[in-house]
Amino acid sequence: MKVVVISGSPRKNGNCEKMARDSLEEISKNGIEGVFVSLAELNILPCNACEQCSKEKKCPIDDDMEGVYEVLESADGIVIISPVYFGGVSSQLKALFDRTLLLRKNGLLLKNKVGGAGAVGRSRNGGQELTIQGIHAWMHIHGMVIVGDDNHFGATVQHPYEEDEFGRQTLIRMVRKVCEVVKAKS
Ligand SMILES: Cc1cc2nc3c(=O)[nH]c(=O)nc-3n(C[C@H](O)[C@H](O)[C@H](O)COP(=O)(O)O)c2cc1C
Repeated sequence: MKVVVISGSPRKNGNCEKMARDSLEEISKNGIEGVFVSLAELNILPCNACEQCSKEKKCPIDDDMEGVYEVLESADGIVIISPVYFGGVSSQLKALFDRTLLLRKNGLLLKNKVGGAGAVGRSRNGGQELTIQGIHAWMHIHGMVIVGDDNHFGATVQHPYEEDEFGRQTLIRMVRKVCEVVKAKS
């Protein structure tokens, strides 16, 4: 069993990466292998709609997405954490989302994987839920099984993460739920 955690911030060691590290700790506590992907470390270019991936399972763009395809395909669960940028996901994360068209076109390869989402913004009500909704839309379009935090929609966190204990609890509960459902399905 494997759960991948994607931090969608371009900032190293920022709130998203800290949330991702806590997620990996919780995944490990649940006896599941965790894999960390940080978009602060990768170069992922936007989809240019060439439609090559409709003809063969290959994207002609030469960047770091190849490794991400492999990690996503091999995962049982996917946790996505984004900063709130103008009420939505970061452009780095949106580029990744659009590039996963290849996985949809070649047999709905993310179907039935368990998905959970989190968002962190500078304001308390800065668009965390809207951002989560955007992540959930990507998950729905891939046919994934979406879970929340057994209360609301997932991890809603206010910057700085270290000082938001309430937000941290929403993250831990969401990750725990992803693990529970991954285990139940295996
Ligand atoms: C371009 C940009 C847009 C942002 N828009 C919002 C916003 O709409 N709402 C909000 O609460 N915070 C907003 N923020 C603040 C970030 O969401 C916040 O600082 C977040 O913690 C960054 O995550 P990171 O530390 O992982 O990079 C914005 C920041 C940037 C750079």
